[in-house]
Amino acid sequence: MTDQYIAVAKLDEVPVDGRKRVEIEGKRIALFNVDGEVYAILDTCPHKKTAPLVRGTLDGLGIRCPNHGYRFDFKTGECNVSPQFDTQVFPVKIVGDDILISLASPSD
Ligand code: FES
Repeated sequence: MTDQYIAVAKLDEVPVDGRKRVEIEGKRIALFNVDGEVYAILDTCPHKKTAPLVRGTLDGLGIRCPNHGYRFDFKTGECNVSPQFDTQVFPVKIVGDDILISLASPSD
């Protein structure tokens, strides 16, 4: 897959400690700003496929699902309960005041 980044939000929409859900090409993606670093993760929790991670609780560089508390790592998408619930994370770039993400997963 090509390394194509898409502008999804302005940086001031996701300030430090902020979060925002965006919808890009049919995917709901949650953006989180932790200490000035922006992370993008698939918003729908892979456990029951309904809960929005954007409403979860931050846990280091990860998010705990608001429903059952499974944790998903912002860098790897790894689930702390079982690899069967690992999810997708997206590379993020900041250009000027735009947040860009690539829909390619890091392993592509
Ligand atoms: S729905 Fe997210 S952990 Fe169960």
